[in-house]
Amino acid sequence: VDGPRPSEMDRDAFVAAYGGVFEHSPWIAERAHALELGPAHDTATGLHNALARVFRSASEQERIGVLTAHPDLAGKLAAAARLTDDSAAEQASAGLDALTDDERARFERLNTAYTERFGIPFIIAVRDHDKPGILAAFERRLENDRDTEIAEACRQVERIAELRLREKLA
Ligand code: GUN
Repeated sequence: VDGPRPSEMDRDAFVAAYGGVFEHSPWIAERAHALELGPAHDTATGLHNALARVFRSASEQERIGVLTAHPDLAGKLAAAARLTDDSAAEQASAGLDALTDDERARFERLNTAYTERFGIPFIIAVRDHDKPGILAAFERRLENDRDTEIAEACRQVERIAELRLREKLA
């Protein structure tokens, strides 16, 4: 890409560029910038490693905060077009912006069951899946115990971040 390399950016520029890679959680980019990792981390992979390291070494409460910062998939925010640009593009890529009434009702039932069980929104890297795959994963993950599911959600958040970084640094 044109423009400054991540390792050359000051804190404000770095957070402006990468603060949204983890949904509504700019503190991850803030802490990663403070690590002063250097040009080896200027690739999508290198930068992802740095941000994921910050995410993994955050407290459980902070990680749960990242999970709860996500909007519901195919939820009310999406219907009202009030998502971040990244989230809106991801949901559109799997057709979640254009559901039939039946599909919308199914997502609503699953979203309700999932948040009642786990207290977080259902998170999946939607660019890795089509609509049937998302619904199948939704049903399957509803059977998980809480620790397993929190770990799965954190993996998905890291995968979403990786795909967003690849697009930004392509
Ligand atoms: N997967 C990719 N983007 C999103 C999002 O914005 N919200 C949820 N819940 N899952 C996602």
